[in-house]
Amino acid sequence: MVGWGVVGQSFAQIIAQRKKELAKKYGFRPRIVAIVDKKGAAINPKGLDIEEMLTLKKDKGTVAASSKYGCPDMTALEAIESVEAEAIVEVTPTNIETAEPGLSYIKTAFKTGKHVVTTNKGPLALALPALTELADYNNVCLRFSGTVGAGTPILEFAKNCLKGDKIVSVRGILNGTTNYILTEMDEKHITFDKALKAAQNLGYAEAEPSMDVEGHDAAAKLVIMANWIMNKKVTIENVKIRGIRDVSAQDIADASEKGCTIKLIGSIEESLKVEPTQISKHDPLAVDGALNAVTFVSQSAGEQTIIGLGAGGVETASAVLRDLLDIKQTIANSMIK
Ligand code: HSE
Repeated sequence: MVGWGVVGQSFAQIIAQRKKELAKKYGFRPRIVAIVDKKGAAINPKGLDIEEMLTLKKDKGTVAASSKYGCPDMTALEAIESVEAEAIVEVTPTNIETAEPGLSYIKTAFKTGKHVVTTNKGPLALALPALTELADYNNVCLRFSGTVGAGTPILEFAKNCLKGDKIVSVRGILNGTTNYILTEMDEKHITFDKALKAAQNLGYAEAEPSMDVEGHDAAAKLVIMANWIMNKKVTIENVKIRGIRDVSAQDIADASEKGCTIKLIGSIEESLKVEPTQISKHDPLAVDGALNAVTFVSQSAGEQTIIGLGAGGVETASAVLRDLLDIKQTIANSMIK
């Protein structure tokens, strides 16, 4: 585990709580052999005790404080290189300017023969084609379903459920924090700042909340979708971005009088855009709170909208688990061949 924040801890709790069921249903018996946080690592090849690791983080601020398994000076790169593991779960904060340090973590994992599950949008928004190539070259898997829609399988829906069809355009709400803020401003008439604070307390916002508010998080997700689902070779530079800072309570009230609402909509058509947009309250995209909603228009199947919570620790952790199970299945299938 590289990163021991809200997503990493939620994931560990899920696999501890559902241990028996995961073994019985999927033959999945994960062992967390190393955890790295900002201050060091804890390593035990036999598997770390999750409760102990959670307590250490809460009480001492780092898993490296473990008297038996702590490695206070160890960096994430050293851990990825030296620890024997089948996969790394990379859940460090997103940086969409440099993609680091996540990008180096992922590349190092590939080079040392480890599969990667990541929820980090930076490396994918900046280098998805190169990373899939590097994964193939090293004969390992890269999975990232938690990067878009948290636990809502937006990427899988488009990639697997619409297999064979041609997706011609995409339109959707891809950021839970801004949707939560706009909903609170509309329904409870609270200020922007108060709504943002609440979204942060609920664990929806990025470590740097301007990423959400200025539309960059939604743009990163749009780039991941355009590359992965529609084979467009685009980066965040190709997205026209406008966030929600300028949306006033008056704008929202005016829209409401007309039976409309204002949402931060990302779209992939001839060009890629993220901008506050007025839509009818009857539009399937008019979802509230931290929900995400994406409408896919495909050539034969027509229009479909997938809706679900788009942010949150447990929700995103469920995508990590899904991805690991998918890797397990992929390995099993390749052995059958
Ligand atoms: N900050 C993101 C959001 C988290 O609010 O949607 C999920 O990617």
